[in-house]
Amino acid sequence: MVRNFFKNETQPANAGGPFTIQRMHFQHLPYVVAIEKKSFKHPWSYSLFLSELSNKIAHYFVAFLGNRVIGYVGLWIYLREAHITTFAIHPNFRRKGYGTKLMHYALEFAKSKGCKEVLLEVRVSNKVAQALYRRFGFSEIGIRKAYYSDGEDALVMRKNL
Ligand SMILES: CC(C)(COP(=O)(O)OP(=O)(O)OC[C@H]1O[C@@H](n2cnc3c(N)ncnc32)[C@H](O)[C@@H]1OP(=O)(O)O)[C@@H](O)C(=O)NCCC(=O)NCCS
Repeated sequence: MVRNFFKNETQPANAGGPFTIQRMHFQHLPYVVAIEKKSFKHPWSYSLFLSELSNKIAHYFVAFLGNRVIGYVGLWIYLREAHITTFAIHPNFRRKGYGTKLMHYALEFAKSKGCKEVLLEVRVSNKVAQALYRRFGFSEIGIRKAYYSDGEDALVMRKNL
C-alpha cells in the first residue's frame, strides 16, 4: 500500500497495526522532527536530520505502529565502535516496550556490523533513559562536563556487544 499519509504531517491519533522498523528516509522527517520537538529541550532541526541521512557512518531507523511513525534511533558506526546519536519514542506511546524493541534492534544492527562496543551520552537528569540503558547492560564510564548547550553534564555510558 502506498504510504500516502506522508503527504500530510498529521498522523492518526490512534495508531493500530504491527510494530515495525525501517531505515529512516527523508519522507519520514516531518514526523521524526515532530517527535523530536516533543522529546528534547534542544531538538535537532529538520536540516540536521537531513544531513545525517547522507552521513556515511550514520544509520537511522524509524519505528512504526501500523502506518504511524512512533519513534526513531540513530547510530554512528566507526571501525568496531557504535555510538548512539539519538533515540526517542513519541510521548503517547511511551512505557509500552517500544523503546526497548527499537534499542534492541539498534544493538543487533551494530553487532551485525562487527561492533564490539556501544557508547552514548545522556543528560545526568534523564533518569528514564538511564534506567532503560542500564537494563540493556550499559554502565557509566564517565561524565562530559557541560556537554549540552544549556550547560548540563552528560553521563557517558558504554556496553560491550
Ligand atoms: C527513553 C525513551 C526512548 C524510552 O522509550 P519507552 O518506549 O518509553 O521505553 P520502554 O517502554 O521500552 O521502557 C523500558 C524501560 O525504561 C525505563 N523507563 C521507561 N520509561 C520510564 C519512566 N517514565 N520512569 C521510569 N523508568 C522508565 C523502565 O525501566 C522501563 O521498563 P519497565 O516499563 O518494564 O519498567 C522515551 O522515554 C523517550 O523518548 N524519552 C525522551 C527522549 C530521550 O530522553 N531519549 C534518550 C536520549 S539519551
